[in-house]
Amino acid sequence: MGLLGEGITEVIAVTKDNAAPIGIIVRAGQYPKMILYKGSKTAENVAKYGWVTANFVSDSYLYPLYAFSDVAKPDLRKVFVGGTVMQLLCDADAWMAFTAEVVNETKEALFVELEPVGSEYCRDQLRPVNRGFNSVIDATVHATRYVMDHDPKLRELIEYHLGIVRKCGGARDQEAAALIRDVCGL
Ligand SMILES: Cc1cc2nc3c(=O)[nH]c(=O)nc-3n(C[C@H](O)[C@H](O)[C@H](O)COP(=O)(O)O)c2cc1C
Repeated sequence: MGLLGEGITEVIAVTKDNAAPIGIIVRAGQYPKMILYKGSKTAENVAKYGWVTANFVSDSYLYPLYAFSDVAKPDLRKVFVGGTVMQLLCDADAWMAFTAEVVNETKEALFVELEPVGSEYCRDQLRPVNRGFNSVIDATVHATRYVMDHDPKLRELIEYHLGIVRKCGGARDQEAAALIRDVCGL
């Protein structure tokens, strides 16, 4: 499916005036899906406005940045797609736009089906395989949970991934690691 491989692709999801890292789930023969935990702005916006854009970025720092802070208005731009004005990250290397429908709901989460309505490659840039980049993403996932319950097991996982960032990451990955440490109080 174009920019989305089978499995779960971790993107920066932009909804109205908001950005956050979110996984887009693709299984053969099915519409792409998101599972959005209630309480996030992303879940609220998707339910309210019915659209989301998936932004593909090569700057790892943007994952902890948008997991833990609000997006600045000038970092978003508008795009008219699928008959709707949506928003994108100015820094996206590529994006896909979706209309989004909540198809199921539990006490904790919304199950959202996505219909692609547009996409664009903005930069002709390959992101080389780098364990430091990947470990920033993993550490950020664990950090979003750690800040809620300070579970020592999560702390160990974060430290493991930050160790890989230290060895394998570039300058921007080190900045991302410092941000994760700061947010988690490590
Ligand atoms: C790589 C990554 C993937 C994530 N995927 C999801 C997801 O699929 N669903 C979800 O509800 N939260 C996910 N999160 C957590 C949200 O990004 C986090 O709760 C964020 O603070 C929500 O921000 P918001 O309130 O601005 O929407 C993910 C975090 C990371 C770092």
